[in-house]
Amino acid sequence: MFKAREIKPGIHWVGALEWEERYIHGITMPLGSTNNAYLIMDEKIVLVDTCVGPHAHELLERVSSVTDPARIDYIVSNHGEKDHAGSIGEVLAAAPNATVVTSDPKGLAILKTYLPEGTSFLPMKSGDTLSIGARTLQFVHTPMVHWPDNMVTYCREDSILFSNDAFGQFIATSKRFDDEVHLDTVLSCAKKYFANIITPYAKQAAKAVEAVRTLDLELICPAHGVIWRSNVGKILGLYEKLCRCEPDDSAVVVYGSMYGSTERMALAITEAFMEKGVNVRCYDIDVSDMSDIVTDVFFARYVAVGSPTHNNTTLPTIGAFLTYLKGLAPKGRIGISFGSFGWVPGAQKEIAEVMQKAGFVMPLEPFTEGWNDTPAGAARLFDAVCNLVDDEE
Ligand code: FEO
Repeated sequence: MFKAREIKPGIHWVGALEWEERYIHGITMPLGSTNNAYLIMDEKIVLVDTCVGPHAHELLERVSSVTDPARIDYIVSNHGEKDHAGSIGEVLAAAPNATVVTSDPKGLAILKTYLPEGTSFLPMKSGDTLSIGARTLQFVHTPMVHWPDNMVTYCREDSILFSNDAFGQFIATSKRFDDEVHLDTVLSCAKKYFANIITPYAKQAAKAVEAVRTLDLELICPAHGVIWRSNVGKILGLYEKLCRCEPDDSAVVVYGSMYGSTERMALAITEAFMEKGVNVRCYDIDVSDMSDIVTDVFFARYVAVGSPTHNNTTLPTIGAFLTYLKGLAPKGRIGISFGSFGWVPGAQKEIAEVMQKAGFVMPLEPFTEGWNDTPAGAARLFDAVCNLVDDEE
């Protein structure tokens, strides 16, 4: 039932489509996901990456539509995270003579933690090559994009880069190429992917893109989403822009509220940004998706986070958001902390501290209001944010 799709003569897509998958480590995937794997038929038969464990049968069936999996000589593991390497065990069971090619030493160390003892490995230093017949594969380490073990595989004869996580998008599609689907949707998925996964490693990603720029590229085959064929320049240009992590002039207001007073403060801040012509989005954390908020935060110059004081800290939902923000730590943004309290403030100072640690500049004192917030309080907040925007311009 599951068939391979030939993407160039002798090179086949044999990945897994996760049509119904909606969530991966904190990131929502409303359009599903794809774990791409590629089969190269040469004198040696090479499988580039695998897929998540539960889809191993799908991958092996797609391989079987081209060749007997037992004939696979090499399994290239560009990255040991389980969405790409989770099926290596099953593939090895079907291809007992296969050697696993991985980065040396980081990939080797990771794969050894969960692949069976006795697995045959071929560790590769950055720049090492492997002749597989008419083709030679070159392995280039791209550490911390987004794990220490990451590498990409380049096939010069076909001008193909197997880029693993880089240039990926969480989307399941029936078509394999960028020019066969709605480009805006795919680019939007690529932005969300970068904002939620690559942000902390943008400097390393910039180096990787610089290296990729030197290659002759006909196809970029990522491990998630569609293959870049007609828009190679566009995705490289987008990554160069994203790697700079430069905010535009927009703002994001995120809040949790118990009885509406922190919400009113959030709306006062939002109105102030609107008054000053700043493009702003306001999110209630209880009904909004954190990974979508973070995507907007990536592009925002101003980020306001609000919570009432609850058990002497923030609401748990805002606490979770701050944890996520701290990990991603987008640099060069201006932060605002705000929120109401019943009998004592506290959450707002905590928000400010976390945002500061995450790299935000916090030019204003945290805004606090008693639960019985007043129009005068809202006006003060409105004015303060307007003045902040004036000062920053
Ligand atoms: Fe798509 Fe880092 O795994």
